[in-house]
Amino acid sequence: MVDALRTSGRICSGPVEQAFRAVPRHAFLPGTPIEAAYADEALTVQRRAGVATSSASQPSMMAIMLEQLDLRPGHRVLEIGAGTGYNAALMAHVVGAAGSVTAVDIDAELVSSAAAHLAAAGMAGVELICADGALGHPPRAPYDRIVLTVCSVDVRPEWVAQLAEGGRLLLPLAVLGSQLSVALDLGADGILRSGSVRGCSFIRLRGIGAGSDATVRPVDGLLIAVPESRGGVDPHAVAAALAAPGPARRLPVSLGASDVWDGFGLWLALTEPGTVRLLAHDDHPFSARMFAPGPAGGVTVALVVDAGLAVVLRGDGTGDGTGDGTVDAEVQAFGPGGATAAELVLAAARRWVDGGSPSSAELEVAVVPRGHPVPWPGAARVDKEHSTVQLRPGSR
Ligand SMILES: C[S@@+](CC[C@H](N)C(=O)[O-])C[C@H]1O[C@@H](n2cnc3c(N)ncnc32)[C@H](O)[C@@H]1O
Repeated sequence: MVDALRTSGRICSGPVEQAFRAVPRHAFLPGTPIEAAYADEALTVQRRAGVATSSASQPSMMAIMLEQLDLRPGHRVLEIGAGTGYNAALMAHVVGAAGSVTAVDIDAELVSSAAAHLAAAGMAGVELICADGALGHPPRAPYDRIVLTVCSVDVRPEWVAQLAEGGRLLLPLAVLGSQLSVALDLGADGILRSGSVRGCSFIRLRGIGAGSDATVRPVDGLLIAVPESRGGVDPHAVAAALAAPGPARRLPVSLGASDVWDGFGLWLALTEPGTVRLLAHDDHPFSARMFAPGPAGGVTVALVVDAGLAVVLRGDGTGDGTGDGTVDAEVQAFGPGGATAAELVLAAARRWVDGGSPSSAELEVAVVPRGHPVPWPGAARVDKEHSTVQLRPGSR
């Protein structure tokens, strides 16, 4: 596993590699076959009411985030989302005896199993706390690094307040239907600015920071995820539009799974306010033409306008669309307003291609407390409850 993470470039620094080599992942996944424990896949470790509430994250994503975190020996670290305890153990290895790792999980069962895993792995140096990480963990603050391994819709003031001067906050942040793993450095001016951004896909925060992304189910098997700071979507209007399919037009670019999540999908969301993600269950006709295996079977991006919508779909006969490659894509209009929506999607796709088909990794992100002046007038902004997030094209 570590050799593969090295070869793929996910691990690129010595301390992260040494931590992965030293900490046995299987000790954190008792009962899991050894091949599965070392496969590059996320493993669900807890479900509540059929919904995954905890998982051992995908090793390549963990490596990406540990590289983004840039831990040093002696660092004081807070992890929100202790889960199995594996990531906390990796971090404890990097910060060493001079540093400390405090790992918080909202779920008491998980905290006690994480303690057992750490003991089984012979790992010291991790303090486990059962609490709602939305509040951070003030008794051990300030922290050089605060890392969430669970997705948040907002950057909470508690986390910023508990960062040491020059500290870094790394979190999977939900932005307009995408999830971005953003490493944010706290400046002397109180502004958090990203050093690196990557696409990611994490379980959502439970508890007081859970947020309330709206979902709408216009017809059986189809779910519309309406991102924050967007008006509602009328399920009856969408259902009526879906019953009136219009023409499909070829997009000027082929798309892959990551493009609909955080490449073209995010671009469209930043430029067209009616952008939503569609999730289809296997029994819905769209599912065969979606791009990525999403939580509900498949996902794509769509634009909802008055009296219609335009849905980006894989072209016919383009395989299963779940691999790393890209496939021909088209935009299909539905309802009387669908043609206008499709035209807007096509125009956005042309601009995305002209802009070099950027992905989230080419973005710069800044976060300020809600109501404070933003650093980049004119750049895209998303207002959250506690913060304003700005996004602009960065350097490649
Ligand atoms: C993807 S798992 C974390 C994986 C973990 N870092 C590991 O190495 O196994 C996300 C975790 O976040 C926890 N979580 C969710 N909401 C939380 C909250 N408000 N405070 C603390 N932990 C939370 C979940 O219980 C879950 O265990």
